[in-house]
Amino acid sequence: MFITFEGLDFCGKSTQVELLKNYFEKNGASVKIIREPGGVKISEKIRDVLLDNKNAEMFDETELLLFSASRSQLVREKIIPFLNSGNIVISDRFHDSSIAYQGFGRGINTDFVIQLQKFAIGDAVPDLTFFIDIPIEEVLKRKSKVSVSALDRIEVSKNDFYEKVRHGYKYLVENEERFIQINGLSTIEEIHKNIIEEIKKYEGKK
Ligand code: TYD
Repeated sequence: MFITFEGLDFCGKSTQVELLKNYFEKNGASVKIIREPGGVKISEKIRDVLLDNKNAEMFDETELLLFSASRSQLVREKIIPFLNSGNIVISDRFHDSSIAYQGFGRGINTDFVIQLQKFAIGDAVPDLTFFIDIPIEEVLKRKSKVSVSALDRIEVSKNDFYEKVRHGYKYLVENEERFIQINGLSTIEEIHKNIIEEIKKYEGKK
């Protein structure tokens, strides 16, 4: 099973990824966690270029191609081999981040971005994707607690950018069956419970 987590910055994905990993492991499964962008040597190098605040001159097209390049390496080097050897793979962000951030957020033609993602990920299409939804005001509230110097190049983006990204995720929820929207304002425990319920539902359908 291949599960991905999506959402705006500070939505709490990473905590949920860890909780879900523990849940599966308690049930005897072998779980691998992937971090996007990054996860393997080449992709980590691309990550540094992408998130470095000094690279302010980066064009949106370059950004999209770098995210996609990082991903195509990660898919072939790690995700597919992990899945083939029977692991559950959980990724903290995946190709939908490029559709939401670079497509809807930056305004690059979404049909093209979607096609490019198909090329980058090949057969590694997630079985389930959890979109942890929080309103923009909540992003700003959580962001204000982090010192500005700790924010990466994309996290320093303006509010209307986040509105567009959120709209992109909502579009995916409506158009992709594997997408499940979760209320990110609930408590950590409630969110985890909702996620487990959805996984059980999915397993029941198989
Ligand atoms: P990440 O380190 O996962 O940050 P967070 O912990 O906040 O999720 O991702 C860094 C930033 O990169 C984040 O603002 C989202 C952005 N991003 C894209 O714009 N496109 C992508 O394809 C991916 C994977 C991330």
